[in-house]
Amino acid sequence: MQRFPQAFLDTIRERADIVALIQPYVQLRKAGRDFMGLCPFHNEKSPSFTVSPTKQFYHCFGCGAHGTAFDWLIDHDGYSFPEAVAQLAQSAGIAMPEREVPTPADLQAQARQTHLQSLVATADTIFQRQLRASPQAKEYLKLRGMTGHAAKAFGIGYASGDLIAHFPGVKLKDLVEVGLVVERTNGEIVDKFRRRVMFPIQNEAGTVIGFGGRTVGNEEPKYLNSPESTIFRKGRELYGLALAKQEIRRTRTAFVMEGYMDVVALHQHGEGRAVAALGTSITSDQLQRLFQLADHVVFAMDGDGAGQKAANRAALLVLEVIGDRKTASFVSLPAEHDPDSYVRANGLDAWTAYIGTHAEPLSARITKILTAGRDLNLPENRAAIAREASEMLATIRHAPTLQEALRTHVEAIINMGVARKAGHRSRDAKPTAEDIGTKAKPPAPDRSRAAFYENLARLSQLAPQHLEQIPTVLIDDFAALICSWFAVAAADLDARAAAVERITIPALQQVVRAAVVGTMQRTAELGAEQIDTEISAILAALQRDAEHAARVQKTTALFAAAV
Ligand code: GTP
Ligand code: MN
Repeated sequence: MQRFPQAFLDTIRERADIVALIQPYVQLRKAGRDFMGLCPFHNEKSPSFTVSPTKQFYHCFGCGAHGTAFDWLIDHDGYSFPEAVAQLAQSAGIAMPEREVPTPADLQAQARQTHLQSLVATADTIFQRQLRASPQAKEYLKLRGMTGHAAKAFGIGYASGDLIAHFPGVKLKDLVEVGLVVERTNGEIVDKFRRRVMFPIQNEAGTVIGFGGRTVGNEEPKYLNSPESTIFRKGRELYGLALAKQEIRRTRTAFVMEGYMDVVALHQHGEGRAVAALGTSITSDQLQRLFQLADHVVFAMDGDGAGQKAANRAALLVLEVIGDRKTASFVSLPAEHDPDSYVRANGLDAWTAYIGTHAEPLSARITKILTAGRDLNLPENRAAIAREASEMLATIRHAPTLQEALRTHVEAIINMGVARKAGHRSRDAKPTAEDIGTKAKPPAPDRSRAAFYENLARLSQLAPQHLEQIPTVLIDDFAALICSWFAVAAADLDARAAAVERITIPALQQVVRAAVVGTMQRTAELGAEQIDTEISAILAALQRDAEHAARVQKTTALFAAAV
């Protein structure tokens, strides 16, 4: 806990050079007294991001991003508040205020913490040495495809089971507290980790604070983790974050997976933004940290039932912490795979392509959670979904726009049940993507907007996470129908193609078919990088549409005012 005197904060804010802070990331051009450039917080083709050196703030007219030098460091660079203060004070040449003098109790606690940490650090060194001395453990890692380089980067070790011998004179109680040894019920003291491959867990600063140990045979449990202690808080730290942080910050994207092996494998194959929770489900503290560093958090979950459950749990937590300028998506791997086995079998390019084509937006995840296994024809079910949806959406605290959009989306889904009934096509009662076409009175497309609909459909498929950025002024009923179709449709392209045939609104079918088929062909032809270019082009076109629509709206308003 550190509090700063207000006068000190005011001084560094006044002396901060916000233009110099932003310049390395945004090409700024002088525009009168201010500067303009392309907004780093959203995708745009024409500059609407302004920086005011006189008032020391930035503001984006496109997405509303706004703040001071502190906000920039926190929102753009992922600094914590104290880190931002230290950084700005340093660059302004202002000394940090004296910390309050610690009490004797503080000092004692600090000394204890340092001592416990040193025990863990020593164990870490021993484990790494024991790995080098164990042909069996090295063979195990080799079998699992881990290179020596990756093992070194992650400090992988091996616990032979004779750790106690290496801590002469150390109180057993301390070794027990950090979970290196355990006392059996008969009073016998033994190593906690015996014959296990050790994954040291570092905090963000890179200090080892605990371990995960995997059996090299098939002993139970498969993984053993250090217990929670004053130096190891499982809900706060993320496995791999110390290594991944910089890359996550640079690209504003993070990948969350389930296992330690997954993280190591992804880094080894060149995806340096992978992190994992610490053998427990992910917490909102962990998500909050990730969303400070990244704008987009991708959850890559195992293809099994447990993976699906983990994804659902994560999605519900995401609602609590997500902001309007952030996105989350969920990728389920094929049933037989986890990220480690996938990237090992298919390589990084295949991994990237898979993520690109299977990322399911948060809205789709939430919709699935609400509707899973429920017959929408039954009014009771629709009522239950409405009630649960409203409870769920009430947990969104920092994303009012997303909250509203989700509300509308869920309402549309609930109404599909009613619409289906009117259509008299009951056999399998559960409406699916193709049923979004059976509304009694389908909205008609505006023929002059054909290109817009097509772009929207292509984007829904290539990069659904960008849909949130489409200004609402553009979305008419037909466009909303396109978006819901993609949100509900199966993530996998083949299923989509089959579902297209069953859409009952011809105009919708035409647009969706062109988008699905066209995109399938192009994904095959193009590399991941070119697809990014394609997405940018689509976003640029949509941005132009939005600007046009805004102009039209403004003119109409002027006329209305004049009359
Ligand atoms: P490998 O079999 O080594 O590839 O493991 P994995 O990382 O694929 O493991 P899995 O998907 O089974 O589990 C994911 C994560 O859950 C692991 O990395 C551990 O953090 C944790 N975990 C798995 N099994 C256990 C267990 O038996 N006990 C505890 N406490 N955690 C476990
Ligand atoms: Mn695995």
